Amino acid sequence: PRVIYITRHGESEDNSAGRIGGDTGLSPNGERYAKALARFIDRRRLEFTAEVDEQNHRLEMFMASGTSSGNNSEPESVSSHSSNQSIDYSSLRLKVKPDFEIWTSMLKRTMETVEHFDPQKYRIKNIRSLNEIYAGRCEGMTYEEIATQFPEEFEARQLDKFYYRYPGIGGESYADVVLRLQQVIVELERIRHSVLLVTHRAMARTLLSYFMDIPTTHMPDMELPLGYVYSCEPRPFGNFLRVWRYNT
Ligand code: G3H
Repeated sequence: PRVIYITRHGESEDNSAGRIGGDTGLSPNGERYAKALARFIDRRRLEFTAEVDEQNHRLEMFMASGTSSGNNSEPESVSSHSSNQSIDYSSLRLKVKPDFEIWTSMLKRTMETVEHFDPQKYRIKNIRSLNEIYAGRCEGMTYEEIATQFPEEFEARQLDKFYYRYPGIGGESYADVVLRLQQVIVELERIRHSVLLVTHRAMARTLLSYFMDIPTTHMPDMELPLGYVYSCEPRPFGNFLRVWRYNT
């Protein structure tokens, strides 16, 4: 099946200074992650494409011969079905497309994280709705600075992180972010190919909680450190989650 990969951008200059929001580029650590991510996804893509090709080939062999793709000799009753050679079986090819898209936010740190992907192999889209939760007046501050300068805000957020909205123009809550991501999720559900989402912590929490059915009460506190790739693969029981960690 197609796979949805979710990761945060590589470490940014603001991350290493403990500042939230902003729009800084990658730190040297972040740059290393960007290179490793391209190598990792390249390998996954190749394996996936090879699997789809092999399966399509088997299906074609199977339908063309009217029997199994193995070397077993055909039982009489089965071989008689192979007489109708005029049917075009190509429509039976797997519906899964081996295409692969990469979606980033419109902030520098995610765009720089995908700079090592070959644009001939991957369609790359920059989507504003994948931008990090906007912290309004608290943009660019550390959590310690927020706690000292805006203690009531800091406490209100601790009490109800999902509905708490940052003060100032454009300030957002997790509830706002869920709404903002709806269109992205509709599109992800519609398309049939694999996608790597290179985004931010609040976005990764929201996307993973949607795909893995994690309640909104838990979602804003999910530990999602930098340097991890999560993948969701559809299965009969729901999405199957895998987690990879980048070893520095
Ligand atoms: O604001 C930036 C953070 O990545 C979001 O984390 O919601 O736990 O503060 P937080």
